[in-house]
Amino acid sequence: MQEQTETKVKVDRALAPVGTCVTLSDRFISEENPLGILTDAAILIEGESVVWVGKQDDVPARFDLSAADIQDFSRQTVLPGLIDAHTHLVFAGSRAAEFDMRVHGDTYLEILAKGGGIQATVRATKEASFDELYEMGMRRLDVLLREGVTTVEAKSGYGLSVEGELRLLEVLEALNRDHAVDVVPTFLGAHTVPREYKDAPEKYVALVIEEMIPRVAERNLAAFCDVFCEEGVIDVKTSRKILEAASRHGLKLKLHADQLTNSGGGLLSAELKATSADHLEYFPEDEVPRFREGGVVAVLLPVAAQYLMMQKTPPVHAFLSHGVPVALATDFNPGSAPCLSLLTAMTIGACLYRIPTEVVIKGVTLHAARAVGIEGKIGRIEAGYQADLSVFPVRDYRLIATTYGGVLPQRVMKRGHWRFVTENCGPAEGL
Ligand code: NIG
Ligand code: FE
Repeated sequence: MQEQTETKVKVDRALAPVGTCVTLSDRFISEENPLGILTDAAILIEGESVVWVGKQDDVPARFDLSAADIQDFSRQTVLPGLIDAHTHLVFAGSRAAEFDMRVHGDTYLEILAKGGGIQATVRATKEASFDELYEMGMRRLDVLLREGVTTVEAKSGYGLSVEGELRLLEVLEALNRDHAVDVVPTFLGAHTVPREYKDAPEKYVALVIEEMIPRVAERNLAAFCDVFCEEGVIDVKTSRKILEAASRHGLKLKLHADQLTNSGGGLLSAELKATSADHLEYFPEDEVPRFREGGVVAVLLPVAAQYLMMQKTPPVHAFLSHGVPVALATDFNPGSAPCLSLLTAMTIGACLYRIPTEVVIKGVTLHAARAVGIEGKIGRIEAGYQADLSVFPVRDYRLIATTYGGVLPQRVMKRGHWRFVTENCGPAEGL
């Protein structure tokens, strides 16, 4: 008896019963149950981690719940904290005027070539102080947290000088330190070649390779290096040079690939075994098996495709049939995706690509965790995983993915603590 008490695991919190628990755990996933959904479940938490999940009736006797805070979510759906695997979170200024320019026929790349687009945001961002960028970043993370997002990938790329890029990464470092939401930082010094280097782009590329990457890596300011690989922006040959340099400095790789033309970025990502390739509208369907071989996650960005009024969609169904992990993200940025709502992006993606809700849910949990390089810790509700959870006020999980953010979470937990609690759960509550 004495021995048994000593070996008992003390539980701090328990969510029990949980009406619909979307675990994404290998123990519960099957052909009939692709998301590993449990009904009448229990989730036990100790400190920052989940220590057990299963049917409420099966809670093992080794868990001591006598001092646990136990909450009833029998009428709710609990999902792992959502992950937005592609954002340009920190910038200043507006690009509203470009929308009408595009409606009247200018393309995204023409606007960029004229010194607008990304370069307009670089100018506005330079004018903003560190504190202003930090404050905007904190508010934007609040908005994402309110949707159930607990981890966000965020890129630099609106500095485009040594100091400018380092400053944005320092803002991201401060946001990660101060906000409940985890921020995974990506260095995107090769977002475009700034206008002042128009006649000597190789000089800017040298700056990225010889100064920016070593300093970013030395100060551990980024987990990933990304490149906007596109003919007329950063071509494949240059992208390869930049990414190989980043890899030598220990950074993991991502690419904005084949968004506006088939320029070879997708194939490069497979060859370099990048963690993810993002956009992919022009990635050729017959090359999809290379992604599987390279272990690349395909990150779909449906808001950008819709906002740029694109006609073409990525070979999504080929990715799925070849077992390529598919993630979905907002691509939040002022030019091509000014939409700070992962739930909206999920519904747009579901419609645009004709994909079932289970694919969408995996795309913002399990597969998104892989796209940000922290699978094994987030993206599932499973023993040993971080206790990042979103509680939605509906029993049917499909409503979360298909109502453009109409069902908002009631509670959001990050690392074992409730970071957001409300009674107001959006217009679609009670559906
Ligand atoms: O993911 N494609 C390149 N980069 C961003 C857009 C950035 C911007 O226009 O400011 C994107 O769509
Ligand atoms: Fe992007």
